[in-house]
Amino acid sequence: MAHLRPKHNTIPLLVIKALVHYFLFTLKTTIASYDDQTLNVIDFGVKPGGEIDSSRAFLDAWESACNTITPSTIYVPQGRFLIGKVVFKGSHEYCKSNGITMKIDGALVAPSNYDDIGNDGNWLLFDDVNGVSIIGGVLDGQGNGLWACKRFGKRNCPMGATNLGFTNSNNIVINGVTSLNSEMYHIVIDRSKNVKVEGVRVSASGNSPNTDGIHVQLSSFVTIIASNIATGDDCISIGPGTTNLWIQNIACGPGHGISVGSLGKELEEAGVENVTVKTVTFTGTENGVRIKSWGRPSNGFARNIIFQHLTMINVQNPIVIDQNYCPNEKGCPGQNSGVKISNVMYQDIHGTSATEVAVRFNCSPRNPCNEITLEDVKLTFQTNKQAQASCIHAQGITSGFVQPSACFSS
Ligand SMILES: *[C@@H]1O[C@H](CO)[C@@H](O)[C@H](O)[C@H]1NC(C)=O
Repeated sequence: MAHLRPKHNTIPLLVIKALVHYFLFTLKTTIASYDDQTLNVIDFGVKPGGEIDSSRAFLDAWESACNTITPSTIYVPQGRFLIGKVVFKGSHEYCKSNGITMKIDGALVAPSNYDDIGNDGNWLLFDDVNGVSIIGGVLDGQGNGLWACKRFGKRNCPMGATNLGFTNSNNIVINGVTSLNSEMYHIVIDRSKNVKVEGVRVSASGNSPNTDGIHVQLSSFVTIIASNIATGDDCISIGPGTTNLWIQNIACGPGHGISVGSLGKELEEAGVENVTVKTVTFTGTENGVRIKSWGRPSNGFARNIIFQHLTMINVQNPIVIDQNYCPNEKGCPGQNSGVKISNVMYQDIHGTSATEVAVRFNCSPRNPCNEITLEDVKLTFQTNKQAQASCIHAQGITSGFVQPSACFSS
């Protein structure tokens, strides 16, 4: 192999040497800056064991991260940490940083007495932040006591608190987080933009009240992917003012399914637009995909919505539009819904319905649903019985194989 030996090998050697030097230097500075910016909450006085309230110490760590413009990691090691209601505040006034990662290896635990946080609406709330990531960890809302209070119809049960909330925030990542037994909603994205929720696990009892898994409202460019949601209310609920939402690869059940709404509660209401729900398995849920609005005047709307590649396993109501939404049938407005529902596509949806009516479009006489498309839908009642579709004021088309066959008015 003598012919391969270069005659003047000093130049390539120098280049390699320089590259190695540069690489080591970059590596060193990267590690150094990483070290410099990691804030271990233990150093701020957070106490493991789950007995001593560490709210103040968590806030101190947050404030320290906020005091510098360089990105920081707030690190929560293994262990259980008791923390009360905390608002992590951003905005330039409170926080210089646009890059704070909260890396959690342990579990944050809410107070077990529901009176402590149950009236506050939120347990852990991020308000007006930019560039915050929550990576890993368990958020244990300890909601069982409050659910029991509500279930037994006791008076003076507080509303409950959401485990993890983001409001008025941008460029948010929630990755690998487990949310357990929230008193109320598990995760809420409100008035926010560019939010990526990935690899999240939500777990609460199938009969826990109002424990929606992930609720999005007044927000745009939110993605929710590769997550597993088992809870007592909607797995994902999509409130007014949600635009450009992407949901993909979700396992839902137990729970009430994925819902757009409820809409039309207010006369003046922001609409829902550009929602994709793709590759979801619903197991034993109350609904599959549902759009719901109250029967009262409103300028709200829901349009450009795609439900695609869905598997229904023993779902009570796989496909639903309900414009007379009124849970518990108490104080129902009983008017025609003003919410306009249009351009809704159901594509490649198959599996089993636990009830005979697998497809139900109950639209507003005032604003019939229009441009509904059913394409490649195959739903049976239980394993092999014929399912039915029911349409009221619904206009649309079908394409491909559709069973139960549609009942649109033209
Ligand atoms: C919805 O998507 C359409 C088509 O991509 C786009 O033109 C429109 O601006 C989007 N709506 C909103 C509110 O972003």
